[in-house]
Amino acid sequence: MTATVITGIGELVTNDPDRDGLLGIVSDAALVVEGDRIAWVGPAVDAPAADAAVDAGGRAVLPGFVDSHSHLVFAGDRAREFAARMSGTPYAAGGIRTSVAATRAATDEELLSRAARLVQEMLRQGTTTVEIKSGYGLTTRDEARSLAVARQLTEHTTFLGAHVVPEEHADDPAGYVALVTGPMLEACAPHARWIDVFCEAGAFDVDQARAVLDAGEAAGLRGRLHASQLGPGPGVRLACELGLLAVDHCTYLEPADVDALRDSGTIATLLPGVEFSTRQPYPDARALLAAGVRVSLASDCNPGSCFTSSIPFCVALAVREMGMSPAEAVHAVTATAAAALDEDGPRGVGRIVPGRRADLVLLDAPSHVHLAYRPGVPLVAGVWQRGRPVV
Ligand code: NIG
Ligand code: FE
Repeated sequence: MTATVITGIGELVTNDPDRDGLLGIVSDAALVVEGDRIAWVGPAVDAPAADAAVDAGGRAVLPGFVDSHSHLVFAGDRAREFAARMSGTPYAAGGIRTSVAATRAATDEELLSRAARLVQEMLRQGTTTVEIKSGYGLTTRDEARSLAVARQLTEHTTFLGAHVVPEEHADDPAGYVALVTGPMLEACAPHARWIDVFCEAGAFDVDQARAVLDAGEAAGLRGRLHASQLGPGPGVRLACELGLLAVDHCTYLEPADVDALRDSGTIATLLPGVEFSTRQPYPDARALLAAGVRVSLASDCNPGSCFTSSIPFCVALAVREMGMSPAEAVHAVTATAAAALDEDGPRGVGRIVPGRRADLVLLDAPSHVHLAYRPGVPLVAGVWQRGRPVV
């Protein structure tokens, strides 16, 4: 196995809990990559010899970003809906049906090439692990093929048949939940690791969400949840009660939700691109952190509520609008996001420590702070995935 030493790292964000500070920063650092793994980390002066050497030229190096929430399998375009929103039309869950019609009409090849382009766009911005949901098919056939497409791009595929009740079931939501928890789940489970529900007024209520998550668990899928995106509701508490790893959105939280998050350890995954793109109020990440809640960030890249694929943009928003420090925001898109996908184990991602997968971001900047300090600037100068430079 070839070993490569990367030297000249001005600032190395390790997220190693055995090192100082939240980010476990090593200055003037080096690291060794062997195969697809991190083999050694430390000060450059102590770096061992290797088969090959790469000079990072003083750049900051961070763990590859983990985007734990995206909806990349869809067709069509909703730019007009966005423009209308910017002129005052509020965001509503029903817009999802526009993408459903276009997705059903698209071929598998079209869906794959569109989603692959978005994954590539993410990679260029430092995202090396991405979760991808279905949810724009909403028939057994279209959900199963959406997941088969997603499976070609990531291990983290999520069955979201319970995104909204599609038009043809509008008069029979109970029948649609029976379909999702029955034949649709059976067809989708082989292509999925996770199951998700949009638990919100206009989508699915808490009893329906529980039924879907229970059925998913019985089929071997682990639960995730969209909750409290458009208003307060019981979804966050359901996620905590069920011991889900993460609950996503958390825009409108009540005090009982915050208590439940703290007590359960369920991660609150905030999606600040959604608030940006829907002109909703940002959730108060500072208050959540102060209450002892674990906070992660993700893009929610989707054609309706937020069409950004950029984790650096989400970091900048979280710092500017949600009260996170740059270090907290970087930790949220690396180590905590990895935990939200159950990838924070010794062979996982999100930290630069020996044994972890060698997924790295090289910034054209001397420190991680520049991600928030220089918003909108393409700072990602290089990306390594599974031990190989890919950008
Ligand atoms: O996470 N909330 C539900 N689903 C997406 C939006 C989907 C859409 O508008 O197409 C979200 O925001
Ligand atoms: Fe979403």
